[in-house]
Amino acid sequence: MSSNEKELVGNFELTKQGVVTRREVLMMGAVAATSIASVNAAVAATNAAATGSASAAAGATVAGKDPYSAKDFSALVTKNMEGLSASQIEQHLKLYKGYVTKSNEIYNQLKTADLTNPNATYSPLRELLLEQSFAVNGMVYHEFYFGNLGGSGGDPTGDVKAALDERYGSTGKFMDFLKASGKCMRGWVVVGYNTRGNHIDTFGLDMHNMWSPQNVVPLLVLDVYEHAYMIDYGIDRAKYLDAFAKNLDWQVVAKRLAATKKLVNGADSTV
Ligand SMILES: [Fe+2]
Repeated sequence: MSSNEKELVGNFELTKQGVVTRREVLMMGAVAATSIASVNAAVAATNAAATGSASAAAGATVAGKDPYSAKDFSALVTKNMEGLSASQIEQHLKLYKGYVTKSNEIYNQLKTADLTNPNATYSPLRELLLEQSFAVNGMVYHEFYFGNLGGSGGDPTGDVKAALDERYGSTGKFMDFLKASGKCMRGWVVVGYNTRGNHIDTFGLDMHNMWSPQNVVPLLVLDVYEHAYMIDYGIDRAKYLDAFAKNLDWQVVAKRLAATKKLVNGADSTV
């Protein structure tokens, strides 16, 4: 992709420099600046001059230290996973990076959020808070998802097998439960260790920030958004779920479960 090319991914336009909003792209045409930081500064200055209000500049990107960085899952692209093409993974990773960028942007925007008219129907602060949970959860759940891809499927062993057997009866019954859950949800299936009951549980989410469970450490995360499989399977989610199972990395699931052993039994984060 050349520096002038841009690609629309979700709500973002990807450029060589990174992800920018449509509004910023328009500003780039009017401002003789090459860096995103310069454009952002110009947007803020233009807003303030046009309205005579310092708060208008709050709508522009705020510079600051970014707390988040994208993890490198590029090995999944070249892994030749059975049933999950390089193109499918590449596009999905672009989407993930967009969430990282927006998580950073919102984090910095919140430093100077307009607090003058907070309102539960609409206010700039409300929008930032809502979309922060969407962006950050979108980033984190994708990291769990990509992290438990790239394995060889099959059956779990050891503590994972024991935990799944105890909760679901057998690995086979758990996989049936997982795939059926994947067909029920519109966003995510999260299989996690529930620190409140010290057991495995499965939760379903329709969006990144809708019904995300508390007191649950994700062990196995399944993305069932259409973007996760549309390139390879169109709308045939069942085939995608089979492919996901074939490439599930049980060793990563085992590592995550082992990490929960460091938690205090019955840990209650509401205390
Ligand atoms: Fe996704």
